Amino acid sequence: ALDIGKLYRDTGCFTYDPGFMSTASCRSAITYIDGDAGVLMYRGYPIEQLAKQSSYLEVAYLLLHGELPNQAQFDAFDNEVTHHSMMHESIRHFLRGFHHDAHPMAMVCASIASLSAFYHDKIDIENPEHRRLAAVRLIAKMPTIAAACYRYSVGWPMRFPRNNLEYCTRFLHMMFEVPSEPLELSPTAAKALDLLFILHADHEQNASTSTVRLVGSTGANPYASVAAGIAALWGPAHGGANEAVLKMLEEIGDAKHVDSVVAKAKDKNSGFRLMGFGHRIYKNYDPRAAIIREMTHKVLADLGVSDPLLDVALELERVALKDDYFVERKLYPNVDFYSGLIYKALNIPKEMFTVMFAIARTSGWIAHWIEQHETADTKIGRPRQVYTGAAKRDYRPITTR
Ligand code: ACO
Repeated sequence: ALDIGKLYRDTGCFTYDPGFMSTASCRSAITYIDGDAGVLMYRGYPIEQLAKQSSYLEVAYLLLHGELPNQAQFDAFDNEVTHHSMMHESIRHFLRGFHHDAHPMAMVCASIASLSAFYHDKIDIENPEHRRLAAVRLIAKMPTIAAACYRYSVGWPMRFPRNNLEYCTRFLHMMFEVPSEPLELSPTAAKALDLLFILHADHEQNASTSTVRLVGSTGANPYASVAAGIAALWGPAHGGANEAVLKMLEEIGDAKHVDSVVAKAKDKNSGFRLMGFGHRIYKNYDPRAAIIREMTHKVLADLGVSDPLLDVALELERVALKDDYFVERKLYPNVDFYSGLIYKALNIPKEMFTVMFAIARTSGWIAHWIEQHETADTKIGRPRQVYTGAAKRDYRPITTR
């Protein structure tokens, strides 16, 4: 491969690549995507097989360790994650400082960053065991913190993690208010959530993972690095799209309005895009969207939920996929297009959708953070720029300007 570093040192040449359309920032053995063929694999395992046969915690182990665990390894990992699921009481006090209507993403981002204050001194990022423990802590505490942030935002007292429940059921139990609420411990709900978490667990060098790596490249601790990833995820061009999709579907309201919305999305002057459509890498159907689309029907049927917004979504997809504008640009539904309908069916409010994504992506972020610290040729991330500002000029005292 061309040694860009040497080329730069020898000639001073560098590339201008806004949005990093054609720049690989690292080597990684975690996730493989073939965007033209619509293929996604974690550590060589096709996403379809993992979605069908695995569980989120098993996938988290796979992303971190490179291999699927045997039963003993899985039990040990599950046990460790379970026993790190409590959050420090001070974080609860910390949450009280937020305004009552703060967006849960703001609270989660700040709370995860605050973990640095609790564990920073105990982290030697050169020590593999310290890195591994940070991964366990993040995967374990993220659902507890997320549920606590949600409950704070609606004024409910926090619920402690129940260690006799498995990962997703434990999260649903912490989220909801009424102990007898049918969804809370429903196997269908937990299974659906687990599947969404598997599909969102990693996606190679997306904006948030690249952010985690960029921050990590400075030697920052894992909690600060992951908090930066959460901030990057929040934007509507990335993980914030799932919340934006549901708002869009609610605004459309009825399948009969779909044509005008598609026309608006094609009009560059409207400033409007179809949320949940298009992807930097996939120029084919996003394989995760294909799985979620399929499961949306099943989950809604199993939960006995009938949601007219599903008809709006299906019609939107049907109209867009036969429209030349979307066909020519290879714009297909992405992972966020249908996920919100499932979260909604699980009674999860739309302000929490991107938080759900963040819970799932935590395993991917921290796997990349660990991989970068295990890679010998990791350098500080430091892009160049093409300067477009003023030429050299002389300073003038304020009285003469
Ligand atoms: N609706 C309408 N037009 C679109 C859309 C859309 N959703 N997405 C892209 N386009 C158009 C662009 O206007 C552009 O048209 P042009 O060539 O005539 O100028 C062309 O398709 C290419 O789009 P870019 O913005 O250059 O593609 P890029 O790879 O930079 O952006 C992105 C990808 C950000 C995902 C974009 O498709 C988008 O904004 N989608 C909507 C938001 C969304 O769903 N984000 C979630 C992505 S998945 C994830 O992060 C988990």
